[in-house]
Amino acid sequence: MPRGRGRAGSMNIAGFWILAQFVLLLVADVKSSADSQLCEPRGPQGPPGPRGPPGPPGYAGPMGMPGPRGRPGLPALVEKCPPVPQSAFSVKLSGPFPGPSQPIVFQEVLYNQQDHFNPATGVFTCSVPGVYHFGFDIELFQSAVKVGLMRNGTQIRDKRAEAGDSHEQASGSSILELEKGDRVWLESKLDREESEKGTTHTVFYGFLLNGN
Ligand SMILES: *[C@@H]1O[C@H](CO)[C@@H](O)[C@H](O)[C@H]1NC(C)=O
Repeated sequence: MPRGRGRAGSMNIAGFWILAQFVLLLVADVKSSADSQLCEPRGPQGPPGPRGPPGPPGYAGPMGMPGPRGRPGLPALVEKCPPVPQSAFSVKLSGPFPGPSQPIVFQEVLYNQQDHFNPATGVFTCSVPGVYHFGFDIELFQSAVKVGLMRNGTQIRDKRAEAGDSHEQASGSSILELEKGDRVWLESKLDREESEKGTTHTVFYGFLLNGN
């Protein structure tokens, strides 16, 4: 009996289980038929698509650090330029002029580096052909002067000045183009007696502006 009852009991449980499964299947079927209207059943995942084209280039990066200092360059080639020709003199006389028609000889040499001026004769002799500037400055007191700037015996420029009881100045200058061997000097145009009065200070100078 307990065995028979046991069988009937297990039969009942099994029956209920089958019923429950049937109801569940029914519900699932109703549910799936409702969903099938919205989405198809999903298939297996397909193979990956082909690789896309490369993207646009990215933004430029930040500026790099400055490079290391370069090595010093090779020393420049030193080209020896020919020496620039020079010629200049400056001489001074404190005292009366000598008589006319002769070069004035100066006592003091202020500058005569190239020795183109002869202090013994008072004559400048051109060694560097070119354009020169010659000039003179005379200070006088109670005297009279008349000087001529000469080139090879030809008067280039002259100047006359007279001073009473006051100090006077007389100056003159000239630009001359000289050839090698040309001679330039300053000479007085007054008699010795006339120029010996009073006091006179004279500076005579000349220099090369540009040589040929
Ligand atoms: C000036 O005289 C010198 C020599 O006394 C001569 O060599 C030169 O050619 C002369 N110059 C001119 C322009 O006459």
